[in-house]
Amino acid sequence: MDQIYLNGSFLPRSEAQIPIMDRGFLFGDGVYELIPVFNKKVFLLEEHLKRLKNSLNLIQMNDIKGLDKIISTLIKKNTKNTFFIYLHITRGVQSSRNHIYSENIEPTILLMCEDYPSFSKNEIKQGFQATIQNDFRWMKSNIKSISLLGNVLLKNYASNNECYETLLMRDNRLTEGSTSNVFIVKDEIIYTPKLSNELLPGVTRGLLIKLLGQNNLKVIESDISQSDLINADEVWCSSSTNSVVPIIKVDNSIINDGKTGKISIKIYEIAQDFISDF
Ligand code: PDD
Repeated sequence: MDQIYLNGSFLPRSEAQIPIMDRGFLFGDGVYELIPVFNKKVFLLEEHLKRLKNSLNLIQMNDIKGLDKIISTLIKKNTKNTFFIYLHITRGVQSSRNHIYSENIEPTILLMCEDYPSFSKNEIKQGFQATIQNDFRWMKSNIKSISLLGNVLLKNYASNNECYETLLMRDNRLTEGSTSNVFIVKDEIIYTPKLSNELLPGVTRGLLIKLLGQNNLKVIESDISQSDLINADEVWCSSSTNSVVPIIKVDNSIINDGKTGKISIKIYEIAQDFISDF
């Protein structure tokens, strides 16, 4: 897991260095992706690269070519079969600290392999707790920005309260989790917040919507109020690190008598099968 890619070279992680004048370090001026690799195969690469291109475009940076080649070399250089590629692009190094960026700097490109343990089937069957907070982040959460202070504070709030996730409300609308998208089930119909500038267009979210449809389960992308959320029959979070994480308690509200719902387990199994067959 030690070989990383930085600006044209593959080198050991311990030898990689970033100049202090990098705009990513000084301003959080950059974007990222986290891409699963299962059994040496990159999972949904096209979807991740498409989202990256969109994030770059939204911060007025040009698309980066050749990332697929770098990814396949990195996979070959690493001994592990299953891990995540963390891909981080900043606007680059500028000679002085200036909010106004220079047009002619080269982006900093970093790719490294990270381990994020996935939950066991038993843990998934048991379910997890979540807590609700006001979504105080900026209004461009559709950009996969490396400026993650809001998400960091909100995820730590969950962790400090023995929860898996903090579910975020803005104007009585559920946006997403601090590191995941959210689905609820009511009367056998599945709902998830519609895409907007307030949430990340999760690659797993897109995959689950497709798989649910293929399995004749109805999904509606719509606004979800706090009351819809706490009165739901089922709730789950989705992300590349854990495709489906059932939530059985949101603050003091018990979901489905504290048991993981059958649709949550079904879509978890469908997603696991899709990953194994990939
Ligand atoms: N984050 N929303 C937020 C705020 C996220 O940080 C993530 C994932 C998602 C789910 O997106 P996807 O299905 O494409 O992974 C939604 C990753 C796991 C991270 O930052 O490490």
